[in-house]
Amino acid sequence: MKRFLLDLAKAPSRFKVLGLRGFVSVAIRTVLFDLRNWLWDMRHGVNTRQRIPVSELALEGLPNSENAEAYTASTPALLDRLGVLNLDWNSFVFVDLGCGKGKALLLAARFSFMRVIGVELSDKLARLARQNVSTYRYSDLKCRNIEVLNGDAAAYMFPAERLMVYCFNSFSGAVVREVLRNLNQSLQQHPRAAYFLYVNPVWESVFVECGFMRPVWREQSYQVYAAVTMAGDAAKTPEQTPATIPEPALRRAVSHRA
Ligand SMILES: C[S@@+](CC[C@H](N)C(=O)[O-])C[C@H]1O[C@@H](n2cnc3c(N)ncnc32)[C@H](O)[C@@H]1O
Repeated sequence: MKRFLLDLAKAPSRFKVLGLRGFVSVAIRTVLFDLRNWLWDMRHGVNTRQRIPVSELALEGLPNSENAEAYTASTPALLDRLGVLNLDWNSFVFVDLGCGKGKALLLAARFSFMRVIGVELSDKLARLARQNVSTYRYSDLKCRNIEVLNGDAAAYMFPAERLMVYCFNSFSGAVVREVLRNLNQSLQQHPRAAYFLYVNPVWESVFVECGFMRPVWREQSYQVYAAVTMAGDAAKTPEQTPATIPEPALRRAVSHRA
C-alpha cells in the first residue's frame, strides 16, 4: 500500500518525462510484474515480493551498511538459466550472497544442488528467508538442504565444494572486491570448479581487476563467470561446462529457452 501511494505521488512527474504512451506502457509492465510476483508467492506459500529500501533493512552500525543495495527479489527466469549450464549439480553448492527473503534460494533448490546457502546482512531479512524456506509448500524442490546465514558477504568463507555463487547486485564494489579475494583464496587452497552468476552486474570492472574470473556467458541482465583455476577440475568431470561449450552453441541453447 505504502509503495502504491509512493508510486502514485511520482505519477505526474513520470507522465511528464515519458509521455502518455510511455507512461501507460511502463504502468502496465509494472502491474504485470507485481502481479506475477504476487501469484508466485501465493502459489508457493511465501512472502518475498515487496521491495525494501536500505533505510528499512535495520543495518545501522554494521560495517558494510553503506555498501548495501535495497532488497528486490529475483524472478524465476533468472534461475531457470542455470539449466543451460548443464552441470552435475549434485556436486555443487549454491551460495546466494545477499539472499534477502530467500526467493533465489528456493528457485535454486529446484536443481539438485548438494546444498543451498544464503548469506544475508540484514537480520530481519535472514529471519524472513528462514520463514519462507519453512513455509514453502510446493513439491518441486530437489535440494532440501537449505541454510540461511545472517552475516556479511565480505566476511563469508566459502565451503570447499564446487561452487555456484549467485549475486543479484547486492552490494557495491568494495564488498564485491572482498568477496572475490576470499573466493580466490579458497580456490587456491582447494582448486575446484566455481561459477559466479552476477545479476545486474554493475561492478563488472572488479571482476576484470581480480584477474581469476573469466566471463563465459553474457545476457542483458546478467553475466556468468568461471574461475580460471577450475580448468583441471573441469577436465576431470564428464559433464560439459560453459568452458567447453562452444560460444555459438551456448547462445543457441540460451535463445531456445528465452
Ligand atoms: C537485490 S537483493 C537480492 C535478494 C536475493 N538474492 C534474491 O535474488 O531474491 C540484495 C540483498 O543483499 C543484501 N546485502 C547487502 N549487502 C550485503 C552484505 N554485505 N552481505 C550480505 N548481504 C548483503 C541486502 O540486504 C538485500 O537483501
